[in-house]
Order: sequence, then structure tokens, then C-alpha cells
Amino acid sequence: MKKPYDAHEIIYQRMKKKGISVWGQKGSGSTGKSCHPETNNFLKDVLSQPWVPKSGRVIELGCGTGPILRRVCKRGFSGVGIDVSRTAIAMAKEQSKGLDIKFRQGDVCNLNTKAIGKFDVVIDGLCLHCITDVRDRKAYLDNVLKILKDNGLFILNTMCGPMDRKRLSEACKGHKIIKKVVYVPFEDDSYGSLSSFGGKSYLPTRYISHWKDILSEVRKAGFEVKLMRYKANNSKDFCGTLTVGALKWN
Ligand SMILES: C[S@@+](CC[C@H](N)C(=O)[O-])C[C@H]1O[C@@H](n2cnc3c(N)ncnc32)[C@H](O)[C@@H]1O
Repeated sequence: MKKPYDAHEIIYQRMKKKGISVWGQKGSGSTGKSCHPETNNFLKDVLSQPWVPKSGRVIELGCGTGPILRRVCKRGFSGVGIDVSRTAIAMAKEQSKGLDIKFRQGDVCNLNTKAIGKFDVVIDGLCLHCITDVRDRKAYLDNVLKILKDNGLFILNTMCGPMDRKRLSEACKGHKIIKKVVYVPFEDDSYGSLSSFGGKSYLPTRYISHWKDILSEVRKAGFEVKLMRYKANNSKDFCGTLTVGALKWN
């Protein structure tokens, strides 16, 4: 049975067909392969901190087509990118030719951490909010801890609450929010984690926790939060964003 995260493959197949290179870009024929300007700012902010490793090995979990890794690896890191979507990984390889980055398909909640090895920096560029099952979130953060070197840096950029539920229901018609989870209407029997509301099938797609709860989750998982930036939702978004730079507790 497929897990909800496997549905990202559908989105990357659509992106590839439309010629869209990077997650979040809109419209057809878009060829930019760089990070979103907001992501770029957060990377600049975290990586300029004095307690951050300046070179070594970096891994991005949920790397998509690799814009963040390309940005970081141009500063002297060697990189590994993992994503659940095969199409994203194929696009990432194509877009990253000539750079010291390896891409592999995999589920970040179920990693062979021994085979992957240890990293100076682990990046989550908008993946954690895709992990909707509480046990999977724990398994995922445990994996981050296992692959991080002592004093290694965990960079997290995630959607967070408080949420504007009215704005979400206006912008995304048919979506449902139950507790912290956003569900979209979805019919496909090969997925094991569909929920049924009012006789209709839904896929859990986003877990939007309050930013304070995410900080607690990260601390509880074994990290010391050294830097955090919280941006509340604005007129365009239904939720905020949280950026964290955290070190592994020794
Ligand atoms: C919002 S996109 C961001 C992609 C990329 N970091 C970027 O900035 O373009 C989230 C990514 O996480 C990946 N993802 C979600 N759940 C995953 C899982 N369980 N294992 C691996 N990748 C996952 C998705 O396929 C998607 O590429």
C-alpha cells in the first residue's frame, strides 16, 4: 500500500510535463532552477551564524529537484538529496550536473541511517509539514538525529500555525482541516492512509502545528534550538513559516 507522501510523485509528474523545474513555481515554461527568495534569505541567515559548520557533508531530506542543495553546495559542501518522488530525483540529477551532489529516492521516515552515514548539516526544506502521521514525524526526527554528527547543524524550514482556516477554505475549495491535518479529496485505492468524511475519500497532505509546538517537538527529539525565525501568515497565506537552526545535544 502507498503512503500519503507517495502522492508527491503525481505533482512532480505534472511539473515535469509543464516544464516547471522547482516546487512552488507557477505557470508553464518556467525554467528557473533556484531557490525561492524567502528560502534563500533563510539559508543566508542561518549559514552566516558563527556556530555553523562552514564545509563538509550536507544532506537534504525531502530535496525535491534540489534547489536548496545546489545553493548550499556552491558554498563548498558536498551533498546528498533524498526524496520520495522518483520523478523529483530524476529532475534533480538532470538540473545538478557537474555539482558534487548525489540524489536518491527514499522515504525520510524509513531510512537506512547506517548506510547513509553522518553529516555536518541536515536540511529540511519544507518536508516536515508533509509528514502527517505523528509516529512518522517521530521516526523522521530520530533519523535526523542519527545521521547528524556531534555538533552538527539541523536546519528546518516549515509551514506552521496559527492557521487562518477561513483563508484556507476560500483558497483551497474542498480541503478539510481536522485538528492539525489538512486533507484533500482523493480517490485511489492503492493508498493505505485515506480517511473518509461524509462518504468521500481524503488524503492527509499537511500537518500544520503551532510554531511553539514544533519547537518543543524539535527539542524533545534531541536538538538545542540556537536560532528561530517565525513569520506569521500574511494576506496571501493560510499559515506562517518557522525557520530553525538547531544543534545536536551532546
Ligand atoms: C514542499 S516540497 C519542497 C521540495 C524542496 N525542498 C524544495 O525546496 O524545492 C516537499 C518535498 O518533500 C518530499 N517528501 C514529502 N514526504 C517525504 C517522505 N516521507 N520522504 C521523502 N521525501 C518526502 C516531497 O516529495 C517534496 O519534494
